[in-house]
Amino acid sequence: MKICVLPGDGIGPEIMAEAVRVLDALALGCELERGLLGGGAVDATGDPYPEATRKLARAADAVLLGAVGGPKWDALPREQRPERGLLGIRKELGLFANLRPAILYPELANASTLKPEVVAGLDILIVRELTGDIYFGQPRGIEVRDGERYGFNTMHYTESEIRRIGRVAFEAARRRNRRLCSVDKMNVLETTQLWRDVMTELAPEYPDVELSHMLVDNAAMQLVRAPKQFDVIVTGNMFGDILSDEASMLTGSIGMLPSASLDERNKGLYEPCHGSAPDIAGKGVANPLATILSVAMMLRYSFGLEEAAQRVEAAVKRVLAQGYRTGDIHEPGTRRVGTREMGDAVLAAL
Ligand code: IPM
Ligand code: MG
Repeated sequence: MKICVLPGDGIGPEIMAEAVRVLDALALGCELERGLLGGGAVDATGDPYPEATRKLARAADAVLLGAVGGPKWDALPREQRPERGLLGIRKELGLFANLRPAILYPELANASTLKPEVVAGLDILIVRELTGDIYFGQPRGIEVRDGERYGFNTMHYTESEIRRIGRVAFEAARRRNRRLCSVDKMNVLETTQLWRDVMTELAPEYPDVELSHMLVDNAAMQLVRAPKQFDVIVTGNMFGDILSDEASMLTGSIGMLPSASLDERNKGLYEPCHGSAPDIAGKGVANPLATILSVAMMLRYSFGLEEAAQRVEAAVKRVLAQGYRTGDIHEPGTRRVGTREMGDAVLAAL
């Protein structure tokens, strides 16, 4: 089990340190190799996804990533922005299936801004297509046309791209509550009319899964109105980006949510859903749980180590039950801890 570890920028190195301690404690015999991605990589090499990291990532069985980006690199040209490194590694490794579970731990019901009864017991999975759509579509750019600046991007999907993410979502729904909601904007965008058609064509192959369709604006509304109506949501790259941030907040903190991005053979990149949080970087207060839970997803999806994955998840549940909270999920009556202490608590629970 070769793992490429990319701590990244901002709080990345701090949260990754705790995730690696958890991995070490499991003593599974993983081989870790560290590399640079994002702003740190730009500073060191001029490239947010340098050749040395490409080699490591290609040779690894899985990639564990912290977070990239920060205001320091905001003024750089687009090709050098840290986010380019992240988009580059996703695309190059063919990681088209992004799984973003949003689970509300009962202990955190009050951390959500929604009423506890609306979110209690919430357990949804967003399956986001990750290597197509307007994120990668050509042509794109900003040009001067007819004497004024003109910005343009291209949204497109082929039916095979839609079919393969659809299959991942139907399979995931099969292992859960067998309900799949496909989200599109077919009333306006042709690309997403094709999305809906292909999802509908796939449905007969999965007669045990109930497929429904929803327009993205309505889905955004339903997610805060009655989120428990959803089991699995499948959608394109851009809608998935937006809806997954929204879904994360149902659970109280984006600091709790892991993610997996998989290729066709379950090679995967695992990262927290949150960003690099430059405002709290280096202060030792960031929540490492999303990264630790990303380790659990890695053990499950890339290495088939279900039991080890469950041990990590159980340890996280235990520390929450014991009352340990980082600042993002802290409430009166619980014990406020920093990144390292949270890592210590997880190790003790393991
Ligand atoms: C995410 C992030 C990225 C995305 C950014 C950092 C490029 O928001 O993983 O959701 O838009 O995919
Ligand atoms: Mg996002």
